Amino acid sequence: LTGLHFLSTWFPQAASSRAEQVDGPFFAVYGAAIVALVLTVGLAIVFIRLLRPREDLPDEVSGQTRVMLRGIWVLGAAGLAALILFAGFSDHVSQTLSPFSATRIDVTTRQGDWDFTYPNGHVADTLHVPTQKPVALTLTSEDVIQSLSIPAFRVNQAILPGRITEAWFAATDTGTFVLRSNIFSGDDYAKMNTAVVAQTDLEFEAWLRDVSDIFKGRTYAEVGEMLYTRQGCVTCHSVDGTKLIGPSFLDVYGHQFKTVDGQTVTADDAYIRESILTPNVSVIEGYQPVMTPYAGILEDREIEALTAWLKTLSSLGGTDDVATDGQEEADE
Ligand code: HEC
Repeated sequence: LTGLHFLSTWFPQAASSRAEQVDGPFFAVYGAAIVALVLTVGLAIVFIRLLRPREDLPDEVSGQTRVMLRGIWVLGAAGLAALILFAGFSDHVSQTLSPFSATRIDVTTRQGDWDFTYPNGHVADTLHVPTQKPVALTLTSEDVIQSLSIPAFRVNQAILPGRITEAWFAATDTGTFVLRSNIFSGDDYAKMNTAVVAQTDLEFEAWLRDVSDIFKGRTYAEVGEMLYTRQGCVTCHSVDGTKLIGPSFLDVYGHQFKTVDGQTVTADDAYIRESILTPNVSVIEGYQPVMTPYAGILEDREIEALTAWLKTLSSLGGTDDVATDGQEEADE
């Protein structure tokens, strides 16, 4: 039935596994409508020409014929509706329930903005997907009703605030396609247009690895500052000298502190590393041992980055910050 595409020149490219499931029934209904049109108009013209008013004809068809005609009409229409329902039901179910093995991407939207969060935590404003693989999107809206529409994949799902909805597809063709909201959402609606980039599985993995590397094109100190907010240090440590749950990061590096068991420690590279990985081993006087241990959460170079950044906040820090690309080569 998708061979009927020539009937519509405005149809978008079919680039996902569900295109056939959507286009098939569409063209079936389209074809049926054309047949019905030709029949009705054609028969009307034929009847107008053939059936002139004649004197000898009875005024009405007999009561029995009328009941029979109505019966055929009602049962026929109901049968047709049932046929369409049953034919479409299994496709409806398979389009509603995403396969368990799908790559999951969280989609959060607000007026004028999309956020796509990948399984490794990377957030982007365009949707990248691997081809030949099911991809399931978990959709939420932070303000108004939106819809996620990817015409080339035949995906169109409303997104309601306060409710999590799902949509899934398997892209079949690589390329860049339009992604937009089909529901007018007020301010900045024009900005709801973005792109879906469908890549081969290998290209997709490489892209994700590349964009997720926060060290790329940044100095260690810049990465350290990003980690400060991303890893939640910001909730307990200020940078302006204010005492929060933990001591402020202002002037920590290189300075001396008293611990609760009466020792004096100098916050050098090794001590800072220890404070981040196993904070409760030596606790600074005046504070509770409540800091989360980051062992197993932060990598070595991320700790180096945090340390490099702490140096920039301290009068005893020195300025040995280097671009990460050069540093990596020097390290190895
Ligand atoms: C839940 C609150 C909390 C979070 C989150 C937190 N810290 Fe702490 N941190 C503390 C507290 C409380 C202390 C002081 C007690 C101690 O030494 O364990 C402290 C102490 C420290 C020290 C030693 C400070 C000094 O004066 O010698 C360093 C360094 C440090 N934190 C770094 C970090 C970094 C880096 C992060 C984020 C990756 C982080 N902290 C996240 C609460 C927190």
